Amino acid sequence: MNNEIIKIFDTTLRDGEQSPGASMNTEEKIRIASQLERLRVDIIEAGFAAASPGDFDAISQIAQKVTHSTVCSLARAIDKDIKAAGDAITNAKFKRIHTFIATSSIHMEHKLKMTPEEVIKRAVNSVTYAKEFTNDVEFSCEDAGRSDIGFLKEITDAVIEAGATTINLPDTVGFRMPSEIGAMIKTMSEYTKGRAIISVHNHNDLGLGVANSLESILNGARQVECTINGLGERAGNAALEEIVMAVKTRRNIFEGLDTNIDTKEIYPTSRLIANITGIEPQPNKAIVGKNAFAHESGIHQDGVLKNKETYEIIRPEDIGIDSSDTLVLGKHSGRAAFKDKLKKLGFDDVSDDELNATFERFKELADKKKSIYDDDIRALITSEMTHIEKVYELVAMQLMDSTGGVPSAAVTIRHKDKEETDASIGGGTIDAVFKTIDRVTGFRGRLIDYKVISVSQGKDALANVTVKVTFNDNEPAMIGHGLSLDTMLASAKAYIGALNSYLSMQERLKNSTTKGA
Ligand code: KIV
Ligand code: ZN
Repeated sequence: MNNEIIKIFDTTLRDGEQSPGASMNTEEKIRIASQLERLRVDIIEAGFAAASPGDFDAISQIAQKVTHSTVCSLARAIDKDIKAAGDAITNAKFKRIHTFIATSSIHMEHKLKMTPEEVIKRAVNSVTYAKEFTNDVEFSCEDAGRSDIGFLKEITDAVIEAGATTINLPDTVGFRMPSEIGAMIKTMSEYTKGRAIISVHNHNDLGLGVANSLESILNGARQVECTINGLGERAGNAALEEIVMAVKTRRNIFEGLDTNIDTKEIYPTSRLIANITGIEPQPNKAIVGKNAFAHESGIHQDGVLKNKETYEIIRPEDIGIDSSDTLVLGKHSGRAAFKDKLKKLGFDDVSDDELNATFERFKELADKKKSIYDDDIRALITSEMTHIEKVYELVAMQLMDSTGGVPSAAVTIRHKDKEETDASIGGGTIDAVFKTIDRVTGFRGRLIDYKVISVSQGKDALANVTVKVTFNDNEPAMIGHGLSLDTMLASAKAYIGALNSYLSMQERLKNSTTKGA
């Protein structure tokens, strides 16, 4: 008999992006969506179309690119949001609108200032309007975890009647215990049986997001909303990889149930998200943390050498870690071996130009770095595949930072085939570098966030710098990444990357307005 499928609704690109410091640019979101599709998630929540023109643009592009997964946009229960969501997903093969309104007394009274009757009316209108764009409409009772069960039944009846096909019951503030969530889901799935799919969306404020999701599955939820690496608002969302691997590993508990996820894509997806957001999962994070399969104690090592199952309940290869092959290519490796490696790492849609450019960078790196690891290759190819047009390009940089002296930087930048050099002092070296870039380009950036992570191991590890910069306080901040053995060079590249992102976004918006005019 076939197993019943629990739909995996990935919201890394929407709720995950609400993690402080996790913003992504459009090219990165498209790359992530492609990887989520390889992972075989059922639904990709690509963003919140009405939030900004940038979000709208990213969702539209993802909708055009993705072919198997359903592409979804979030929308508040207001017409302008629903229209933006519907327009953004127009070209998706499978499309969904996810609309929501709060249903707990505290939210209705203090945030919405609406009566329960008004909330129901708004919810019904929104679902009805959303149905004009797609048949697949999800309705979320925001803060369901703290809502009255009688009211949940009432609003659910009304929105199902209006055409909602999935009812999502989020524990928005991560307040509930597994037994409480389980009871709510049991009641609601029995109540709606055969009329709609019951979904859950659990936040992790008490560290219970995954436990609550698993308990929900056992009580009838057939869709789970989650994010890669557990990214998300505040303490994050339930982690996709933990939910999926629990269902797979504990077959006797989740009897007759399964997901469509290709678990071998879990680790590559986790690395992609960490490289792009600059947010590393904590080392001891279940499934994808750096130490998740490391056995430190002698007794454990001895056991694992004798029989892996003594201390391993999941095989690293099941989530796509090829432990036999971590130390990879060297400077004598050829292009064919490099291409083969990329394929093994899941990058089989690399264009010739991307391959050539990454191979060049790999050769330069191999000249300077003793050991090159899979994670280095992943970082190189990700930065190549998500790069935007290099309107400005760093040519050279020189720093003066004698101890006790004034930090200063000289930077040469190429723009439209012309090179320009300038120098500036700053409060610190990075400040000097960024100020000089501002002087050369004529754009004034305000740094909002700066992160550096080391890509693999060793003193000669690659530095992956992520910056968040605004070039106009009335417009969204832009993200830039820089990859280099030298942290200062990586920082300069990241800052210039953010500027290029800004210019590319301006260009796209100009084109879409011209087309629409
Ligand atoms: O946490 C939440 O309630 C949400 C909804 C918009 C689904 O993210
Ligand atoms: Zn949420």
